[in-house]
Amino acid sequence: MQRGTDISRAASILAAGGLVAFPTETVYGLGADAASAAAVARVFAAKGRPRAHPLIVHLPAGARLDDWAVDVPDVASRLATAAWPGPLTLILTKSARVSDAATGGAPTVGLRVPAHPVAQALLAAFGGGIAAPSANRFGAVSPTTADHVAADLGDDVDYILDGGPCDVGVESTIVDLSRGAAVLLRPGGLPRSAIEEIIGGPLVAADAAGLLGGAGGPAPSAPGTLASHYAPDALVLAVPPGELHDAVMIERATRAVAVLAPYSVAAALAAQLQPGAPVDPFRTGGATLVGGVLILPLPDDDAGMARALYGALRDLDAANVDVVIAALPPAVGLGEAVGDRLRRAAGPRRRHP
Ligand code: TXA
Ligand code: MG
Repeated sequence: MQRGTDISRAASILAAGGLVAFPTETVYGLGADAASAAAVARVFAAKGRPRAHPLIVHLPAGARLDDWAVDVPDVASRLATAAWPGPLTLILTKSARVSDAATGGAPTVGLRVPAHPVAQALLAAFGGGIAAPSANRFGAVSPTTADHVAADLGDDVDYILDGGPCDVGVESTIVDLSRGAAVLLRPGGLPRSAIEEIIGGPLVAADAAGLLGGAGGPAPSAPGTLASHYAPDALVLAVPPGELHDAVMIERATRAVAVLAPYSVAAALAAQLQPGAPVDPFRTGGATLVGGVLILPLPDDDAGMARALYGALRDLDAANVDVVIAALPPAVGLGEAVGDRLRRAAGPRRRHP
């Protein structure tokens, strides 16, 4: 594995069928030439991801929806115009140009124009679509730095294009427009309110979408929609802030506990655990041991929380705690995506007890 900032080198590797991890504004992607079945197969192998789970095809700024999708509804054009480049993925009926390899044989394709300047430069240099899932092993937390990618994928990726830490920090919002309605498949980096304003009405919930017809057919088996996903090694409990103190008292009796909570919630808990405990250190962004509990505060604002979330989960894994108790944020702005990821991290595990 090599690592650097050489965009033309990264584009040549993609053209030769290689794998390039690259930064987007949401999380790092593991990219391959979307037109090459062999290159796309390497992505699935490197991630350990089941072949039936389709990849998002990333497009350069200015890409025409009609080149990549058919039966494009007016609402798709409106969303693309208003929100691209940006953290939004649209599911549409695929055109003949999209290879079956990237979509896992599905009649639909996920399309996204990422806003990160390095991603845009790579797409422009490469000149085609780049199929890319998040650059982590299947089921694990998405990478928001080049170091995270290197730790997860090592030599299974040919080149890591380092663009610094990701600004948004959670994956793109996915809206399925292939069913005659706008269905929210995954809350993400573009808040629900921004999308609903553009489309002029409410998004349909994914669990209600099974009733709809359209090219998408039955609800997709997307990994981001599995009960357990985005999970660190430690056990995760996701609780409302009002239940945090009780959950900590129960768990710390038998296990090494860490708490992940917005700063104001974390500071209140610290004061309860150890009256007079200094709370200032939380402002520095590091973890503090208070009353035997490792407390890692996140910024109180929803965008700051999303940006810090995955790095914080990785830090807590490195601290070797048994259980992470996370306080759920209000489902406002990016808080909806943060809450969604925390609930999935807390879902039943395949890999871990
Ligand atoms: O922000 C993001 O979306 C990042 C960056 C790299 O762009 N990508 C990402 O990809 O999160 P991935 O593969 O980790 O998650 C994409 C989700 C998966 O749950 C996948 O199954 C779903 O999108 N998906 C992709 N194509 C789909 C389709 N045609 N129909 C339904 N779901 C689809
Ligand atoms: Mg992923």
